[in-house]
Amino acid sequence: ASVDCLVRMYKLDNTTKLCSTKPIVTVNGMFPGPRLIAREDDTLLVKVINHADYNVTIHWHGVKQFRTGWADGAAYITQCPIQPGQTYVYNFTLSGQRGTLFYHAHILWLRATVHGALVILPKRGVPYPFPKPHKEKVILLAEWWKSDVEAVINQALQTGLIPNRSDVQTINGYPGPVSSCPSERAYTLHVEPGKTYMLRVINAALNEFFYFKIAGHELIVVEVDASYTKPYKTETVLIAPGQTTNLLLTASLTTGNFMVAASRLNRNITATGTLNCIIGSHDDTATIVTIPIVASENASTQLVDKVTDHALRSLNSKEYPTTVPLKIDHSLFFTIGLGMMPCSTCVIGNRAVAHINNVTFDEPSVSLLQAHFYNIKGVYTDDFPAKPLNKFNYTGEQPKNPHTMKGTRVYRLPYNSTVQIVLQDTVMFSGESHPLHLHGFNFFAVGSGLGNFNPKKDPKKFNLVDPVERNTISVPAGGWTAIRFRANNPGVWFMHCHLEVHKTWGMRMAFVVDNGNGPNESILPPPTDLPEC
Ligand code: C2O
Ligand code: CU
Repeated sequence: ASVDCLVRMYKLDNTTKLCSTKPIVTVNGMFPGPRLIAREDDTLLVKVINHADYNVTIHWHGVKQFRTGWADGAAYITQCPIQPGQTYVYNFTLSGQRGTLFYHAHILWLRATVHGALVILPKRGVPYPFPKPHKEKVILLAEWWKSDVEAVINQALQTGLIPNRSDVQTINGYPGPVSSCPSERAYTLHVEPGKTYMLRVINAALNEFFYFKIAGHELIVVEVDASYTKPYKTETVLIAPGQTTNLLLTASLTTGNFMVAASRLNRNITATGTLNCIIGSHDDTATIVTIPIVASENASTQLVDKVTDHALRSLNSKEYPTTVPLKIDHSLFFTIGLGMMPCSTCVIGNRAVAHINNVTFDEPSVSLLQAHFYNIKGVYTDDFPAKPLNKFNYTGEQPKNPHTMKGTRVYRLPYNSTVQIVLQDTVMFSGESHPLHLHGFNFFAVGSGLGNFNPKKDPKKFNLVDPVERNTISVPAGGWTAIRFRANNPGVWFMHCHLEVHKTWGMRMAFVVDNGNGPNESILPPPTDLPEC
């Protein structure tokens, strides 16, 4: 089957939120953008017409894009941007994938307003590996700035100051009543007592982790990043930017109203919604009666972090086997963290940068995929280091050498080789964990821990049986996470922190996966309408 969508990018003049109005770039005039619903193995043809006055691209976050890297949408990685007035058709197949994903702009900070849900249903006649829910609801979590988001980041880059945090968080576009604008409404989730709902929760925020909790209710995680998990019961789910989580919620028989709370990791600002239990008819006169207590910045943060990201297990059933590579061809150790670089326009003469293995990514002016495919020299170098350039000296304090090097370096992987990456966080300013996102693959999260990775002891504890499969994983602050995947998708694949501020500062790199020798092992030729730089 194939699904056709027409997507127009607009710059709108009059979007009002938080009692103030500003122009924003949207998909089809909507915030969040339209929900796309498809089925496993469908081919999507999405025609993007750029009516905005910004360059845009659309990334299909979590879609593997097998052999179709040209449709991955990462600006200057797999394509040049779609310029104002131009059109580009994203043509790709959702092969072997079902679950909740999303799409977002992948250039500048435009994804703040350019994003939407991508719901992929199982093939017709194929049931979920859990009882069929009564209804499914999409819960899209995001952020809102009163000021122009591009101005926020440009200003920060020029002055070297930390960019302003968003003014509010939103659930399906609603911030809930906030003191700065009491007329704002909350999102209401209508449920019938006793019925089970599947919530498809997406964290599309730029820089915020969210706790998700419904007072008085237990949640069951059944899927993350569009792969099924063993059912996991919990009261609170931590969802990092770029992650998606499907939850089963059985509405309790209590009548009344509850709150769906999403809170920042380090602050207490909450986006709120009401859970409106209805018997018989709709009751829209919801008043909030219970505010759930959400974990705050203390030991429980790491606990929840650990629980939601690392306690999950894949199904590893006959229908949904887990095939972790056991023999590793490329064993990589990546430090990730923040650093400093001289900056003449900056207030303190330095600005924060971010790095992977002390390399701060320098954006090329032609896409890496084009450079790879057409063999254009001088766009990137093949020498991304397999271990950090600076001697790794994290001891729980600031790294002694915060200097990083600019570079457009890639790591080359022969087709079908197997990879293990240990991602080690090096704390610099505060305890922020980095949600690392990989394009082109799902990876297995085989292990994680606090402190320094111990190459002798820690691998013995890896879960090689039923580790969860993801596209985005949090590397705990001052800790490490190990992932494995098989490089069976030819192309150029970006890996970066999904906190937009860290990505902008340079916490990004790319893998080049060579073509294989078989008939289906090479990247397809580029579409004729591929934008030029
Ligand atoms: Cu959701 Cu490269 O991003
Ligand atoms: Cu980060």
